[in-house]
Amino acid sequence: MQLKDGYRLMGFSYEATGLLYSFGRIPKCKVAMLDHVNKGDRILIAGVGHGTEAIAAARKGADVTAVDISETMLRHMRKKIDRAGLKHPICLKNNDILNVTDETGFNMVFANFFLNVFSEEKMMTILTHLTSLVKPGGYMVIGDFAHPKNGGLLYKAFQNIYWYIAATLYWLTADNAVHPIYDYPALLSKLGFEITGTRFFTILGMKNYWSVIGKKA
Ligand SMILES: C[S@@+](CC[C@H](N)C(=O)[O-])C[C@H]1O[C@@H](n2cnc3c(N)ncnc32)[C@H](O)[C@@H]1O
Repeated sequence: MQLKDGYRLMGFSYEATGLLYSFGRIPKCKVAMLDHVNKGDRILIAGVGHGTEAIAAARKGADVTAVDISETMLRHMRKKIDRAGLKHPICLKNNDILNVTDETGFNMVFANFFLNVFSEEKMMTILTHLTSLVKPGGYMVIGDFAHPKNGGLLYKAFQNIYWYIAATLYWLTADNAVHPIYDYPALLSKLGFEITGTRFFTILGMKNYWSVIGKKA
């Protein structure tokens, strides 16, 4: 089956665009929960892109599986892996995440800036699938644009405009969905996860990004 490579056009500049657009916050957000990763942990990274957090987790001695539907993104990741000189190899899969199954379960599943590419219905299907791959007692980590639910009017307006500019760019170039910002802690709680940590990444004091970690009962 032919896999959709939506990042054929923008894949080469994806990492640099995120770095510049977020004034360096996105790369920090992606690795924010890596202190929860232990040597030998089984880690799944969904929609891995260029693989910043996958490489960092492998450096900690984790057993990392990274999945992306875009061969373009994986080509860039392979170059990064070559440069990193890792002792622990990363298992790379060019596939749709919905085709990935696992009987053992993962200690941690990461979905960084991944779920926001989907319409709400598809996002829920994928999030439910990802949470089913987490072992009991394991963790789901989501890094993304922060939901502005707890802020003032000015912050809410800014955060929405900031998100919609990015969403429109990737709707035009990668055919991603355009939708309101998702409230991941609320969604994970609904799926039976206990939210055990949230870290925010701010620009000019505004909470633009968050990394959310939830524990499976
Ligand atoms: C917005 S990018 C984020 C990449 C990376 N996680 C990061 O934070 O830099 C979304 C990624 O998800 C991948 N993707 C989209 N749909 C997918 C699917 N159904 N299965 C696996 N990967 C998918 C895209 O190819 C892209 O690399």
